[in-house]
Amino acid sequence: MSFNIKKICCIGAGYVGGPTMSVVAQQCPHIQITIVDVNVERIAAWNDENLDNLPVYEPGLTQIVAEARGRNLFFSTDVDKAVDEADMIFISVNTPTKNYGKGKGMAADLKYIELCARQIASVAKTDKIIVEKSTLPVRTAAALKSILDHTGNGVNFHILSNPEFLAEGTAIQDLLAPDRVLIGGENQEAIDTLVKIYQNWVPDTNILTTNLWSSELSKLTANAFLAQRVSSINSISELCEKTGANVDEVSKAIGMDTRIGSKFLKASVGFGGSCFQKDILNLVYIARSYGLNEVADYWDQVIIMNDHQKQRFADNIIQTLYNTVSGKKITFLGWAFKKDTNDTRESAAIYVADYLLSEQAEITIYDPKVTAERIYADLDYLNTRSPEENRALVKVVNDPIQACQDAHAIAVLTEWDEFKNYDWYTIKHQMKRPAFIFDGRKLLNRKYLEDLGFKYYAIGE
Ligand code: NAD
Ligand code: UGA
Repeated sequence: MSFNIKKICCIGAGYVGGPTMSVVAQQCPHIQITIVDVNVERIAAWNDENLDNLPVYEPGLTQIVAEARGRNLFFSTDVDKAVDEADMIFISVNTPTKNYGKGKGMAADLKYIELCARQIASVAKTDKIIVEKSTLPVRTAAALKSILDHTGNGVNFHILSNPEFLAEGTAIQDLLAPDRVLIGGENQEAIDTLVKIYQNWVPDTNILTTNLWSSELSKLTANAFLAQRVSSINSISELCEKTGANVDEVSKAIGMDTRIGSKFLKASVGFGGSCFQKDILNLVYIARSYGLNEVADYWDQVIIMNDHQKQRFADNIIQTLYNTVSGKKITFLGWAFKKDTNDTRESAAIYVADYLLSEQAEITIYDPKVTAERIYADLDYLNTRSPEENRALVKVVNDPIQACQDAHAIAVLTEWDEFKNYDWYTIKHQMKRPAFIFDGRKLLNRKYLEDLGFKYYAIGE
């Protein structure tokens, strides 16, 4: 038995809501999907005739939006109307780390989630299934249910947890062929209804149903495990640098053990992105709130290691450049937190830049998908120095070759494929000597660059 779903509303048109619901719309032409957001500019960008202006850059996204938009996929700022008409509502709003009050710097800020619940309750006149798509602390569904039941119009709400596991840069392929879809709930009919939607393109064997709390906790746990692998290999990268071992060789050697597996063992300047840090901080906070201090300390170490990795990448640049970067031009190739996305949230580049700017470096940045406005906003948000100082010390350019001209050093912060194919001969000849490259992604070819005369440093070598 399942409910009949004709219309879906998704609240939150961000990096998750936009791509996820576009794929659901593409795969389920019989369901009308409206994605709503309070951010007027974002909705206008999703509705832009020119698909290059979509607010989220993801390979393959434009084709999907082109196919479904205006057919059964709509973007709107009219939240009340879409909520009222929907049989099923996905909540996909942001759940950032709280930056005030109790739990500041650790807990998830659930104010946007609660606002959604109150708005749904006040508008809904018919029964609805509410789907938690945002990443939430375990037991949030109980709070949502309480708000919906006490402030609503006497209609029935069934709450499901359906966390999203897509990674940015590969969102469309992750959504089209997910390792698993996870659905947690208490009401079997509601669970079956959501299962039926995914069955339009996901094989039954990849659809897993659990209780609500397992589903909520699995999402935080998955991110904690993934981030832990990056911090684990990054910790080994430092040991490699001291001992003559090469971290790529170590990764390969351990990854071939099928019990360990080869993915997520790429040493780097540190993990970034909007979720790893926030979700681990949240896990640590939850563990501490239950008095589980050993559990909390265990996961906290993943963040400590990541902060250390960013700091020591910057320290190595300073030390190698004869212990001063004051007044020196350092060129950053890449600002996004990984390749194939325009997202810069918590990108390692932001923190490395901040350390170097505190040492009075002059930084020039090139990233193929990130705008100058975004880069300055990221630096201003740190509040380390005034916006005027940030603009005086940091230049953002559109041409990578020009970016490298007269630089003392190049730092590779994002693993964009195009960096591999640059005319490194020309770059070398336009740089100050010795010409240094600090490869935070282990992207470039050491032998080729050293033959050209570069001084090449890579993480974990
Ligand atoms: P985002 O900031 O890109 O998008 C969230 C959107 O929600 C914003 O556009 C915001 O304006 C809108 N919003 C907030 N409150 C609203 C309200 N009351 N009514 C209408 N719109 C509202 O965030 P995101 O990256 O899409 O992440 C959303 C959630 O998904 C988070 O909980 C995150 O942890 C989780 N998640 C993110 C990813 C990822 O790769 N980014 C992957 C899996 C899960
Ligand atoms: C991550 C998870 O992979 C998704 O499953 C999850 O849904 C998502 O978080 C989320 O909840 O937001 P995402 O942050 O988009 O996805 O990107 P990842 O591919 O996980 O990369 C995260 C960071 O780790 C990046 O900075 C990346 O460069 C770094 N990383 C990743 C490494 O340094 N080494 C690796 O081997 C893998």
